[in-house]
Amino acid sequence: MKKALLSGTTKASLRSRFANDLDSRALSFSSSLDIDKTIALHDVRASIAHATMLGACKIITLKDSKQLVQGLKQIETQMLHGEFVWESEFEDVHMLVEHRLTQLVGPVGERLHTARSRNDQTVTATRLWLRECLDFTKAELIEFAKALLDQARLEASTPMPGLTHLQFAQPVTLGHLFLAWFEMCIRDLERLQETRKRVNVMPLGSGALAGVSFPINRKMTAKQLFFSEISENSLDGVSDRDFVIEAVSVAALGMMHLSRICEDIILFSSTPFKFFEVSETFATGSSMMPQKKNPDIAELVRGKSGMVAGNWVALFTLMKAQSLTYNRDNQHDKKSLFEAFEIWNSSLSVCTPMVRLLLFNRERMLHACEQGFLNATDVADYLVTKGLPFRSAYQIAAQLVRECEFKKCTLTELPLEIYKANSELFQQDIYSRISLHGSLNARISYGGTAPVRVKEAIIRAKKRLSQIVKAK
Ligand code: ARG
Repeated sequence: MKKALLSGTTKASLRSRFANDLDSRALSFSSSLDIDKTIALHDVRASIAHATMLGACKIITLKDSKQLVQGLKQIETQMLHGEFVWESEFEDVHMLVEHRLTQLVGPVGERLHTARSRNDQTVTATRLWLRECLDFTKAELIEFAKALLDQARLEASTPMPGLTHLQFAQPVTLGHLFLAWFEMCIRDLERLQETRKRVNVMPLGSGALAGVSFPINRKMTAKQLFFSEISENSLDGVSDRDFVIEAVSVAALGMMHLSRICEDIILFSSTPFKFFEVSETFATGSSMMPQKKNPDIAELVRGKSGMVAGNWVALFTLMKAQSLTYNRDNQHDKKSLFEAFEIWNSSLSVCTPMVRLLLFNRERMLHACEQGFLNATDVADYLVTKGLPFRSAYQIAAQLVRECEFKKCTLTELPLEIYKANSELFQQDIYSRISLHGSLNARISYGGTAPVRVKEAIIRAKKRLSQIVKAK
């Protein structure tokens, strides 16, 4: 019995054709045990499905299959309770689990690896982990989207200056800005859904690369693991990591979006703006300057977004020009994948409450809308509605801005005689048209910032979000 154990699933079993042990430096360099901890449970669950299928297909006896499953379930429990011992002399979790199984159930443990290779095994566990992770991320993103929508509803009519080139451009509503952030978020959700379909494909049964010589039933294994499809080609099955690259590109886009949202939060809560105020519970002080209240959390999210882009580059270049099929390079798929989603999920977990707790200085935003000629386009648009071609109207409006600058007044303060001196088309109603509310209410195009449109958009946004919540 002891001999069988040693000759079977110990690390030595992979070296039977070698006269010497692997150099200890080479072992520690190549081992993925530490990183594999993240997929350990998924790997054990895939083994349970595999062992069950082997029995059902009579590739091993039902008795052996049951013993394997029972041993694997014991290992699963040990892992769940933190009682699983991670011995460092194994190359990866797959070898360690097989070894531990054989210790638990005896030589029958050596039958688990029938009709399977670590090449199809590792990528199956990674897919199982990622599918679960995508579902978790989806839930986090939905919470974030809800926070954005709630703020949009509360601030649907709150005016603020809209910016282009970081210069005040035209008035918008704060609700409209929240809806813009929501649009980014809903696209991230859609991408997650799309990616999930391609992740949910089972490569197990591809063997090392060429398929296996036993009458396995891949669909049976896939069903147990809730995979919706099985991979078509064994060479591709073991060597494809597109799904990892795709998922991390979705995470990189999601983080890029968070970095832009955080940048706006940082900018609008900065001393010169003071439109927003980050809640005390999401702001930090300075070790030296007692008065400081800094938006560090938003800055950290902004900073982390680059790391996820880096993860994507690392993965893309990992696979670029890699010959089919499996190469050990692929072991590096996991670290970048895990890191990217850890960053995205932890960022979402702080962004949601930070957005919910944001405070707004509505008076300052209103005041800012009234400075800087944000209604100059409205002056031109007014003349267009009176029949003037836009380019001529633009020139008249520009001339009026110049006159205001000279007189140090706003367009709403400029007397009607001056308007009339520039164009006979101006009437008293110019003032209501260029008032802040006149300007906002005029932007009634579909997707525009008029509060009436923003309120309609919120209703549509809610429906779209609930469809995504329901979708599998
Ligand atoms: N730990 C490896 C990985 O993550 C799987 C082992 C396959 N190793 C091999 N020599 N074929 O990719």
